[in-house]
Parts: sequence; C-alpha cells; structure tokens
Amino acid sequence: MNKLLTYFIFITLICSSCGSDHTLSSPNGELQISTYIDENGQLLYSVSFNGKSYIKPSKLGFEFANADDMMNGFEIVSSKKETIVQDYEMQWGLNQFISSKHNQLSLHLKHIESGRLIDIVFRAADDGFAFRYVIPQQKEKELIVSNEHSEFNFDEDPMSYWIPGDWEIYEHLYNKTRASEINALSKVNHPNLAQTHIVENSVATPVTFIFDDGTHLSLHEAALVNYSGMTLKKTGETSFVSSLTGRADGNKATIPTPFKTPWRMGIIGKKATDLLSSNLMYDLNEPNELGDIRDWFSPHKYIGIWWEMHMGKSTWDYGMTQDMGTWTDHGNAHGKHGATNKNTKRYIDFAAKHGFDGVLVEGWNTGWEYWIGFEDREGVFDFVTPYPDYDIEMLQEYAKSKGVSLVMHHETSAAPRTYEKQMDKAYALMQSLDIHVVKSGYVGPLIPKGEYHHGQWMVNHYNNAVQKAANYQVAVNTHEPIKGTGLERTWPNWITREGARGQEFNAWSIEGGNSVDHLATMAFTRFLSGPMDYTPGLVKLETKLGPNSDNKARSTIAQQLGQYVVIPSPIQMACDLPENYEQHLDWLQFIKDVAVDWEQSIPLQGEVGDYVVWAKTAKENENWYLGAVNDENPRDLEIDLSFLDKNQSYSMTIYRDSKDAHWNTNPYAIEIENKIIKQTDTLKVYLASGGGFGAIFEKIK
Ligand code: NOJ
Ligand code: CA
Repeated sequence: MNKLLTYFIFITLICSSCGSDHTLSSPNGELQISTYIDENGQLLYSVSFNGKSYIKPSKLGFEFANADDMMNGFEIVSSKKETIVQDYEMQWGLNQFISSKHNQLSLHLKHIESGRLIDIVFRAADDGFAFRYVIPQQKEKELIVSNEHSEFNFDEDPMSYWIPGDWEIYEHLYNKTRASEINALSKVNHPNLAQTHIVENSVATPVTFIFDDGTHLSLHEAALVNYSGMTLKKTGETSFVSSLTGRADGNKATIPTPFKTPWRMGIIGKKATDLLSSNLMYDLNEPNELGDIRDWFSPHKYIGIWWEMHMGKSTWDYGMTQDMGTWTDHGNAHGKHGATNKNTKRYIDFAAKHGFDGVLVEGWNTGWEYWIGFEDREGVFDFVTPYPDYDIEMLQEYAKSKGVSLVMHHETSAAPRTYEKQMDKAYALMQSLDIHVVKSGYVGPLIPKGEYHHGQWMVNHYNNAVQKAANYQVAVNTHEPIKGTGLERTWPNWITREGARGQEFNAWSIEGGNSVDHLATMAFTRFLSGPMDYTPGLVKLETKLGPNSDNKARSTIAQQLGQYVVIPSPIQMACDLPENYEQHLDWLQFIKDVAVDWEQSIPLQGEVGDYVVWAKTAKENENWYLGAVNDENPRDLEIDLSFLDKNQSYSMTIYRDSKDAHWNTNPYAIEIENKIIKQTDTLKVYLASGGGFGAIFEKIK
C-alpha cells in the first residue's frame, strides 16, 4: 500500500459564463441546486433530491456592522461551472483513500448601488450539497459580521435529532422532535454542565433530519477557520437561519478581506446509512498541509489515570497552595492524589502487559487545586511543572523501556491565554521526552468573559494550538473543543476530540447516566463531524454516584465492546480501572484485539437513534471488525457478509448479548463464540435492550 500522501485536483471548465443557467446537478443527476435573484435583488437557492424539493427557496446574505449589508440589491454579473475531482489519502480514519467528484457553480454577484462584489460558490455532490461565501478584497481592511444570513427552509416538517446551539458546550443529551417542535431554550442552565450559554432557539450542527418519505439530511459546516461556529436558529415552524456564536460586543466575527467562509453543507441520502458513507465534509477541506505524520504519530489504544478521578477514588489535585503565583507544598498533601509515581508505574505495567501503547495521566501538573469553580483561573495551571510526587522524566523513561509512552494532559480550565503563554515550552517539553499525544481540556466558562468556546476567538485558539503542536510533533485530542469540521484532513495531528457527552457522564451525571440510545443517536449526528474521544470500554458498569447513588452506564457489556468499532477515533481509550480489567480478561481480549485505524469502513445497517452496525477493515491486516450499538428496543439482525473476500474462510470471534441480556436488569450477560465463517453466510445476531456486539473476522491464510 502506498503510504505517501497523494492528492490531485482536476478542474474541468465546462463554461466560463453560463448565461442564465444557474442550476447545478450532482454528477449522477439525483441532487439539484437551483439559484435565482428575486425582485429585490436577493439571492436564493433551493435543493431537490430525486426530483423532490427538500430545501425550498432560502435566502443568502450578510449583515455587517461597519459596511453596507450584503442582502439585496444584487445582480449576477457572471457565473462559472466546473467539475472538481479529488483523489486523496487520509493519514488515518475510516477510509484511507477517498475519491470524490463535485460539480461547482460560482456566482459572481455585484451590489448594484455600491459596486461591492461577492461570490457564492455552490457544490453539488451525489451525497450532498454545500455553499460558501467568497468575499474579495474590500475597501474596508476588515469586515465586522453582525450576522450571516444563510437560510435552510424545509418543504416539510421532518423528524429532527438535535442538541441546543449552546455557545459554550456540546455535552447535552440528544433530543428527537419534529423540526417544528425544537425548543432549545428548554435546555437553558443545565445544572450538570461546567459551562452553558444558550441564547435563542437554535441547534448545534451536525443536526440530522428525516423526512416522511425516508430521505435523510444532516446539516453541518466544513473547514471552520478564522470564523465563529454556526448554529441553526429557528425562524419559523420548519425554517432555520445560520446564527453564529457571538461575543461581548454583540457582533459575530471580524474577517479580513479577501475571505472565504466555512462551507455550509448538507449530506443527503435515501437511508440512514447513506449519511455514514459520505466523505463530503473531508472533500470540502483543504489538502494535508503537514505531510506524512505517521513516522511520529500512530493510531493506538491507551489507558489512563482518569476514571479513578471521575469515580472519586483519587483526585487530580495534590494539596498545594498558590503563593504569589508560585505553587508550594506546605505539607498539606491529602494523600488521595492519583498521579503518583507508584500509581503511574502500575498503569504502565498494565499497559505493557496487555499491549496498550499509551498511558494518560491527568493531575500530573500544578494548578488543580483551583481548576474548577473559581472565577479567575488565569495563571493557575502550569504545563511544565509536575507535582512533587510525579517524576515525569523517570516515568517516561520507565514507560519507554516497556514499549509504552505517557500521554500528556493539558487542562486549561478555559483560560486559554494562560495556556497560550506556555504552549511553546509545554510542547517542547513533550518533544524532548518523546511524548507525541496531548489531551487538552477547556472546562469552565471561558475567560476572558464575553468570549465563548465556539466563537471566532476560540476557533482561532484551537486551530493555532493544533498548528503549533504540529511544529513539535505533537498530536492533539481536544476536550470541550470546537466541533469537528474536517480540518483533520488539513492538519492530521488533530487526531480526535470530545465535543459531545462522553462516557464520563455515566459516572456522575444528574440523569443517572447517558440515555440508552445516546450512541445510536450520536452515530448519525455527532460522529458525522469526525472522531470522538468517547472513552469506551467499561467492564464495571455501575458507578453508584449521582443524585441517587445509582449511576451506571446504560449499556450491556457487549455494547461497550461494540463501541470500539462504532465510534470513530484513531486513538481509543480503555477507560476502566486496571483492577477491573484484571477481573475480566476474556472481555479485555476484544479491546486488545480490535483495530483503530481503517483502510475501509462500511456502514452495514442502522436507523437514526435506533441502532447501527459497522464493518471496518484494518490497515494493519486483512481482518474485518464488526460492531453495533443498540437503543432500548431488542432486535434480531441478519447481516449480509458479501463484503468479505470470496472463497475465503474467516475465523470469527463474536462478543454478543445473551438472549436474557438487558442494560438495566442483566447487562453482563454476554456470549463469546468462535466459528468459521464465509462470505456467503448470513450472520444472525441478537441485540439486547441497550446492547450491541463486537466481532473480529480473522482471515485464515
Ligand atoms: C473534562 C474532560 O472531558 C475529562 O476527560 C477530564 O478528565 C476533565 N475535563 C479534567 O481535565
Ligand atoms: Ca468533558
């Protein structure tokens, strides 16, 4: 297999000015975008699929605080149609090689009165549509965006799977309602979120819709650079408009000119799994700017000193005091600190014994005494100074001697300016220690006040951190991040992120745990925006924390294993405690054996919020890995195995729910079976309530 990055764009000019033909069809002709200027000189677009309209005429434009609005009074001065063909290789992920063909229409608009110019570029692909604004050089050096006005008006009232358009966090539970019944304001001030700010009835993206005829549509954005994250605000029963995350002065973004906005995109398919096979978000991003990073970053599995803090068994902090900006050990160590030399060695030994490549250690550095619940968190965290009971050099030496590496942790407590000041030396320290992955975190209301996690200022912070990290051969796993918009194609060291409600909520959330259908919903919403560090792999499901001391992961054990195949991420955690895994080495075996980096991934079956089944073949071997997660309704699956090689036998090991398994009453009822299987066989699997399965098909040579 060619390991080098390959990338080509072929541009075929169809015509340079296509007169009044301002419609665009996808290569297979099934998707159509129509555009026109109305009597007020305002540009509108609409989208149809298989001859039926789904997005009815919807207006496009801008409002600026320091310049005339770009809403109406326009004429089309020229237009251009092109075909864009791309063949590219991803460094890691669901599909190694991606080929795409889009038809593109660029409309050059002129504001008749002022002469101001703007281009709107549309893409029609077989799997969806996209558009972006391209603003040429203007007389103003910068434009202050008070509103972007991109409408998405539906022809019907589809079923919607949404979380609120919170400016500070995505860690809400998903909701299923008709579009007309979306009520994001009912989610204001969720008491369990470390930060939340919902200002209007809008939803975060990706947001997924199912129309009554079964057509599926997921709206999102691609290539979010130097701009604010987009939410979609309700403007009527079944209509939405882009609404950007704001900032203290009431405006939304300040853009230089010339400028290209992120792409606004919609994946469209006839069935739920069509959403999952789309690469549209990656197609719309710029090619890899970093070259091959695989000589210093390899996809892998890791364990960590992490769950024990969420379980309240140990703490992040040591018991220090900050005197005039310096952390001092006044002998008040409380003895519950998790990141000690002894404990870290224990985890390293476990990782080495069971083949995990990384050991994440949270709470290793000074500052945790004031990390949460304080207004002024500036200058608190130090990203190069370990606590006295943690010898980072010695531990990394020890880890390396056993073929393992520490995974760095940088919790910023949402004080990014403090982090920015130390970034270079923090990443340089990592490089000097041969540590190549950092998990970063941004817990808490963002400071400075008036900026938000999803606003332009923070988008730039997250993007800059990733680019700076690359200079030090550091790959980044961002928690409390901006959503994924496919930038990992451009900067492949942005390996994964949180950006949704993860496993940690099962430990302590006020709802008692994530909902049973949480993963079956995220499979068709959140996961469309790329990798997630969900941290699967519990073997002890009950945490007994939370308001009624009865919290637990609402899944069966078989589902915890299936999550490794369903959740996209080139690094996967085995999140449970070593002592718990030691009790269940038979279940741990699946976690040890499952791959994390794929040559090809096929979504075999599924329905939004109900269940999903994936088949993925690893880059490192010719095996196939199957996994499923289910909602609360038990179901019998019949899985067609025609994707396997013909005339070839596989040794299948399957970890599946027993007939009497149930997430609530009998979650540990699992059956492990090994048998020989061929392409012509049909695999029958039972998914329990809250269940799932994981299976490995090893090619018999
Ligand atoms: C939130 C992260 O999601 C979690 O994984 C981490 O343990 C805490 N922040 C502390 O950094
Ligand atoms: Ca979190």
